[in-house]
Amino acid sequence: MTYDMVIRGGTVVTAADVARCDVAVRDGRIAALGEDLAGAVADGGRVVDAAGKLVLPGGIDSHCHIEQLSASGFMTADDFWSATVSAAFGGTTTVIPFAAQHRGQSLRTVVEEYHDRAGPKAVIDYAFHLIISDATPQVLGQELPGLIRDGYTSFKVYMTYELLRLDDYSLLNVLALARREGAMVMVHAENHEMIQWLTDRLLEAGNYQAKFHAISHAALAEGEATGRVISLSELMDVPILVVHVSTERAAVAIREARDRGLRVYGETCPQYFFLTAEDLDLHGAEGTKFCCSPPPRDEADHEAMWRGVVNDTFQVVSSDHAPYRFDSSGKLAHGPDPDFKHVANGIPGIEVRLPLLFSEGVGTGRIDLQRFVELSSTNAARLYGLEDRKGSIKVGADADLAIWDPDLEVTISIDMLHDNMDYTPYEGRRVKGWPVFVTSRGRVVVEDGELKVERGSGEFLPCELPRLAEPLGQSVREMDPGRNFGARLMPDREAS
Ligand code: URP
Ligand code: ZN
Ligand code: ZN
Repeated sequence: MTYDMVIRGGTVVTAADVARCDVAVRDGRIAALGEDLAGAVADGGRVVDAAGKLVLPGGIDSHCHIEQLSASGFMTADDFWSATVSAAFGGTTTVIPFAAQHRGQSLRTVVEEYHDRAGPKAVIDYAFHLIISDATPQVLGQELPGLIRDGYTSFKVYMTYELLRLDDYSLLNVLALARREGAMVMVHAENHEMIQWLTDRLLEAGNYQAKFHAISHAALAEGEATGRVISLSELMDVPILVVHVSTERAAVAIREARDRGLRVYGETCPQYFFLTAEDLDLHGAEGTKFCCSPPPRDEADHEAMWRGVVNDTFQVVSSDHAPYRFDSSGKLAHGPDPDFKHVANGIPGIEVRLPLLFSEGVGTGRIDLQRFVELSSTNAARLYGLEDRKGSIKVGADADLAIWDPDLEVTISIDMLHDNMDYTPYEGRRVKGWPVFVTSRGRVVVEDGELKVERGSGEFLPCELPRLAEPLGQSVREMDPGRNFGARLMPDREAS
């Protein structure tokens, strides 16, 4: 057999192994792993020297907001062109952004709109999660089951944000549907009333600056909602994934739930390792650059997040890239000195997600290379039904690869990034390790600091249902049958 490309002499890392070998690519897929494959390169093919470098699966960013209109009417600064270019330069080869339903909208129409946005612009492959803000019988009974079968097998629900949140009854309806169909539910867990009450009191007292955003989104609000949604998922006996976890309290709740055998998964993001609530207390409106929800916390929570990536509380580290510029199109849409309630929530980070995690995780010895690959790529593929094609370097998988120079030192600055933002929260931070050569389905996407692919060359990825192991907690449920009362009323997927 001949190959289109052989990546020679690198250290190849998967979630399971680290090995020095060549990677051969043919027809966009990984065709062979082994020694001395370069001799079998076809005429016109190429050999890429990876000696001294790491060859990793391209990253999967399974939580990012791209060309998404927020419920308050803010459009993200990045479209599918700038976001996917930026992702690729940071070693990410698959993104799973959201097709976001606003109340009253048909989910099917929303999905079509997002395809229209992504198709002509994306340069790497993409799937979609859905955001369900209107859990009507029509949406849950008709639209969602059809969409799940068409490859939209995960959806996010919110416990806060006035225009997005679902009450517990609606959450149970969504969880019941997910159980029946085998889909994955992602949950934004913050207690809405706590946040709303604190916000009202703070604003009444004239405390409007960005730093009060962090106070209003109290750690307790996240902890309470995380515990509550775990209980709801336990009632339904259905997997959930709690997204963008920022506090020790929430992390411990997730860890304990899984220790009890529940399929409760967790995601955290670089902002919860690197930024603090003090960043919101910069002069003028500068602090708005760091307003996201949940907000950055403190150093004790940073340590809890690191413990969580080490002890498998968290299965994925995503960017939660939600880019709003520091101008009247974004953070300052309500004037140069806005109150925190009217600041677009979200921060950028799609390009720096992997270098930050690599530098501060692998570089300090907190996690090893295999765990880095798991957190940044492999687990997302498993959780969201992409594992046959993405997230690993194995024969038959798509040749989505990132060659990393582990010694390359980079000072992050907005000028070197490829998104459409006018700031980065990580300005001036030094990292060691950066991807220098990136492929997607065997196409070279980034080489020598240049983009090598055309607009719209990324492809849509229909997702399969996640294949998750059975929960370990059968005995717990047998000891306390009432705990799964809701689930026992539901027909099993197999049986229905
Ligand atoms: O503040 C954030 N994270 N904005 C993006 C929307 C979300 O809830 O993930
Ligand atoms: Zn969220
Ligand atoms: Zn988000």
